[in-house]
Amino acid sequence: MFKTLTAPPQDKIIQIMGLYAADTRPEKVDLGVGVYRTEDGRTPVMAAVKAAEARILQAQESKGYVALAGDAGFHAVMRGLILGDAVAPERVAACATPGGTGAVRQILEMVQRLTPEARIWVPSPSWPNHAAITGHLGLAQVDYRYYDADAGGIDRDGMLADLAQAQKGDIVLLHGCCHNPTGADLSAQDWVDLAGVFEATGAIPFVDIAYQGFGEGLEEDAQGLRSLAARVPEMLVAASGSKNFGLYRERVGIILAVTDPGKPRDVAAAMLAHLNRQSFAFPPDHGARVVETILTDAELTAQWQAELDAMRSRMTANRRALAEALRAVTGSDRFGFVAAQRGMFSLLPVTEAQVAQLREDHAIYLVSDGRMNVAGLTEKTIPQVARAIAQVLG
Ligand SMILES: Cc1ncc(COP(=O)(O)O)c(C=O)c1O
Repeated sequence: MFKTLTAPPQDKIIQIMGLYAADTRPEKVDLGVGVYRTEDGRTPVMAAVKAAEARILQAQESKGYVALAGDAGFHAVMRGLILGDAVAPERVAACATPGGTGAVRQILEMVQRLTPEARIWVPSPSWPNHAAITGHLGLAQVDYRYYDADAGGIDRDGMLADLAQAQKGDIVLLHGCCHNPTGADLSAQDWVDLAGVFEATGAIPFVDIAYQGFGEGLEEDAQGLRSLAARVPEMLVAASGSKNFGLYRERVGIILAVTDPGKPRDVAAAMLAHLNRQSFAFPPDHGARVVETILTDAELTAQWQAELDAMRSRMTANRRALAEALRAVTGSDRFGFVAAQRGMFSLLPVTEAQVAQLREDHAIYLVSDGRMNVAGLTEKTIPQVARAIAQVLG
């Protein structure tokens, strides 16, 4: 079996992690992998998480299996965090998954089983794993226009024109906030206009939200998704607790499927639990329980929100400082978009060869498409990064 095997293509983000680890230059700067970092380069456990873990350690008396769809208390807090009161709880089927990736995977697997002919509309560009999972499942993917690199913002007209071609039952993937890799988000008006497109076409929105709280704030970042949920008959949401709770390795994720109440909701919930059973049986519990512990306790919630606010402020400050440093070294405003965008990423207008040059000549690591993690910048490295970008881009 293994003699005929060829190695699968490596994910470009995983590839950059390996190259960075092998680099011995002390001045190396990691702007590749998508994890939050402090000014001193750490990805710490949040204090609210530590406090919740201490409580769990004290109180937990069993590690027995929970349920195929995970814990109902976790479902309830995540539904509230993400959907607020945009839709009645009776309309939402929830299912815990291993991380946001697990949620994306399980949703697409459900689509493949229920409507294999549906096309999956994916923004161009998008998180590479969207296309990887769609391809892995043999689903038909159509890329729609999303990012206007010249303007450093959304190609609104292109997006709406492309999505008007979607057909009933097609799935349209949207990033809830902090678009990965561009940092260019939909405006409130864009969400309203998209709701019109869904009403007109009968396509189904699938919102991937992996960075709630990293953009403008917890509530603000969910507004668009909520306004859409309030208007459409059906919607799929894949959410991650990796970034906003800093629980990366604990694999916290959830699917929220908005349906009609009653039988459709119950069938959707049963289907999602069934698909979990076939893939991994029970989703991980520890991280989900940490999230539930935090969100059901006012004090822990406040502590967590303050920590999240501080992370967001640091990323916003880094964006401003880098844009200013680039203005100073280039004498132009062409990188002003870095300050205007939101979340952990921006996409630099660089070729793959220029990314290699930044890495080889300046020890600065970006993903090969030019994606930069702004949380990886520090006061010390911002001038170094700005000079290198200016030099390499000319
Ligand atoms: C757009 C998007 N969706 C989903 C995920 C999944 O995150 P995780 O599986 O680590 O929870 C990520 C993480 O990089 C992401 O950027």
